[in-house]
Amino acid sequence: MSTFPVTRLRRFRRTAALRSLVRETTLDPAELVLPLFVCPGEDVERPLEGLPGIAQRSVERIREAAAAAHADGVGAVILFGIPEEKDDEGSGAWDEDGIVQRALRALREASPGLVLITDVCLCEYTSHGHCGVVTDGEIDNDASLELLARTAVSHVEAGADVVAPSDMMDGRVGAIRAALDDAGRETTPILAYSAKYASAFYGPFREAAGSTPSFGDRRSYQMDPPNVREALRECELDLAEGADAITVKPALPYLDVIRAARERFDAPLFAYNVSGEYAMVKAAAAGGWLDERQAALEALTAIKRAGADAIVTYWAHDVATWLR
Ligand code: PBG
Repeated sequence: MSTFPVTRLRRFRRTAALRSLVRETTLDPAELVLPLFVCPGEDVERPLEGLPGIAQRSVERIREAAAAAHADGVGAVILFGIPEEKDDEGSGAWDEDGIVQRALRALREASPGLVLITDVCLCEYTSHGHCGVVTDGEIDNDASLELLARTAVSHVEAGADVVAPSDMMDGRVGAIRAALDDAGRETTPILAYSAKYASAFYGPFREAAGSTPSFGDRRSYQMDPPNVREALRECELDLAEGADAITVKPALPYLDVIRAARERFDAPLFAYNVSGEYAMVKAAAAGGWLDERQAALEALTAIKRAGADAIVTYWAHDVATWLR
């Protein structure tokens, strides 16, 4: 290999046009998923302190936000619900007339070409805020499966294109696949949150979704942050149970996990750029310490460079307008 002065890597960096020509990784809004928080009421738009620019919105407002994002090229939205009432089992999650189900029907009609993904979990609907049923103070894995499966089916019946279980119960992908198939929904894909870590970076989300656990934490079901081989086992099991795509979450502190999953599996790989990752940049930008747009584009590009095919991000709509 020739070296300096024959080789000068700066030659292709000299102008914007030259740099574009050799760029290895690009962002496309069609590969971005915008999270939306739907709440009861009419004409409600409640800004979230920890997630500047993001709000809890009632159905009609969700419809407008989704249509606007879609018109700007965003590929998909993922819905989270804030129910009117919570109970021990989280029955609002599979209520035919539940908040997410109502939003789905409205969105399905208003934005036929937009991919509608739903987060399948019980934590927003349970009075204790855990992602599964509680029996004797512990999160009961097997008792939760049927409820999660019921929730997934009800989302699909209301218009969801893709269901994304985020509860981290063992066996939930298989249970959801079987229930969907029984309901004649064998063409609906499952996007599994396979490697979902027990992360401090979910802080602002829990305020947004009102899902902070009332006792304990989520470490008995979400993954232990130091582990990467275990993440690959989670992905492998989810794929074996019928997952059509897998997710690593959070994204930035886990780029090595994204890379490892990319190298091992050929299935579509999603990464979730979570609320805390967004809030950190927003806070620093508000302080005047960094440029939000540059920082966000750099972070999202890094997630793709690590190997993600698609990214769930609170910047989805912003990116679509920035790249226009
Ligand atoms: C629900 C769920 C969580 C997130 C997505 N789905 C919270 C949690 O597990 O505590 C976090 C998303 C974010 O922080 O942006 N289980």
